[in-house]
Amino acid sequence: MRISLLPTPSFLDMKKENLYLCMGSACHQLGVYEVLPKLQSMISEYKLEDKIELKGSFCLESCSDGIVMKYKNQVFIKINSENIEQKFKDEILPSIMKIVN
Ligand code: FES
Repeated sequence: MRISLLPTPSFLDMKKENLYLCMGSACHQLGVYEVLPKLQSMISEYKLEDKIELKGSFCLESCSDGIVMKYKNQVFIKINSENIEQKFKDEILPSIMKIVN
């Protein structure tokens, strides 16, 4: 799975919603690169590759609550490599399923 900071043409990911993972400096310092592979595994495990596009983003403006993710207008905070699986199941996945179903 690729992660890109560049915008993709909308015709390439029609029907897909973007799930953003902050790659800003504060989130980087907090270990976003340890969260990323776990997140990619869960997207694969839950077979969400056709439904969402994981994208890196610049600062999501919640640095003191990092690591931060965003899906649609919902922001997920205080993510780390230890809690990402639980946060994904409890917070992020329900939000994704609400939109795609
Ligand atoms: S660097 Fe991630 S919210 Fe600012």
